[in-house]
Amino acid sequence: MTLQTFRCFLADTKGDDAKRGVTTRTLDDLPTDGVLVEVHWSSVNYKDGLASTPTGRVARISPIVPGIDLAGVVAETDDDRFPVGAEVLAHGYDLGVSRHGGFAQYARVPAEWLVAVPSGLTLRDTMVIGTAGYTAALSVVALEERGLTPADGPVLVTGATGGVGSTAVGILANRGYEVVASTGKADAEPYLRALGAKAILDRATLSEGTSKPLETPIWAAAVDCVGSTTLANVLPKIHHGGAVACSGVTGGGDLPTTMMPFVLRGVSLIGIDSVQTPIDRRRAVWARLGGDLKPIGLEQIGHDVSLDELDAVLNGILTGAVTGRTVVDVRR
Ligand SMILES: NC(=O)c1ccc[n+]([C@@H]2O[C@H](COP(=O)([O-])OP(=O)(O)OC[C@H]3O[C@@H](n4cnc5c(N)ncnc54)[C@H](OP(=O)(O)O)[C@@H]3O)[C@@H](O)[C@H]2O)c1
Repeated sequence: MTLQTFRCFLADTKGDDAKRGVTTRTLDDLPTDGVLVEVHWSSVNYKDGLASTPTGRVARISPIVPGIDLAGVVAETDDDRFPVGAEVLAHGYDLGVSRHGGFAQYARVPAEWLVAVPSGLTLRDTMVIGTAGYTAALSVVALEERGLTPADGPVLVTGATGGVGSTAVGILANRGYEVVASTGKADAEPYLRALGAKAILDRATLSEGTSKPLETPIWAAAVDCVGSTTLANVLPKIHHGGAVACSGVTGGGDLPTTMMPFVLRGVSLIGIDSVQTPIDRRRAVWARLGGDLKPIGLEQIGHDVSLDELDAVLNGILTGAVTGRTVVDVRR
């Protein structure tokens, strides 16, 4: 391919202030290895907010094209599994952290990180889901692998209007679970009910104060992306033998809990990591995201921005202000 200039959002995180904005680069600025993908869509995750600020301590190279998610069309390849024109997506591993990511019109991605876009999803749909939705799907799969079924009782989702939370609500509701959505946003009820939530819980009831080591059990399981006091206050309210799939630290990286839910109720705490999932499991879960794990309400969850609008969104996601998933139309 002849040398081509393309637009990207670049963050220089070396100094005290982030220098970031839209600029142009050439294909020579990309890593030399991997499949060349013409990126059509990316999305904004909490980690992208961190990777775009000097204090976030996520970016390992600077300047960096952030964007841990991307979806597009193969433009140049020597890998038979992903021919030119194939629709692909990628997320996690080193993308947007130590290798230029999805906030650009082109990216080079190792073939072993690529996932074929599953039937049942458009390229844009895959980025409405993105890392956050894939993490929600991994959480639901982990709970069900441990035996959870809709007959077991209500399932709590914390941080419910965020990326992981919104997609978790939509996935669980589509699978027939009675979903209780915890949110700090007073006006979020119509949005969460549209995704299938049956009940809404004020976030403050979980994030403030300290529960007793064991409380009356009310939820069969939980998908938690908040951590800290919230997670500590959820564990004492899980049914005997239930489980919590935890993936995030929006509320803090600590966990001020006791042993009692684990040793007196057999509650399990399942850690979820979407970044380094082996590629075979990743491809299998994505294939299901186009089918039986597809969230309700992708239309309500996703809203589009251009590269030029990214700066404000990256600030907003770090303050918990964003509802749903921000999808980046990188060609706009
Ligand atoms: N382990 C993994 O592989 C993995 C993958 C993806 C994300 N994550 C992590 O998961 C977390 C959520 O990611 P996300 O993309 O869903 O972020 P997000 O879109 O910003 O959503 C986080 C949500 O948490 C709630 N929240 C914000 N501040 C809070 C606080 N102080 N206390 C309690 N709740 C608060 C808000 O929802 P409400 O207003 O509705 O309460 C917010 O929308 C982040 O820590 C992220 O790094 C981990």
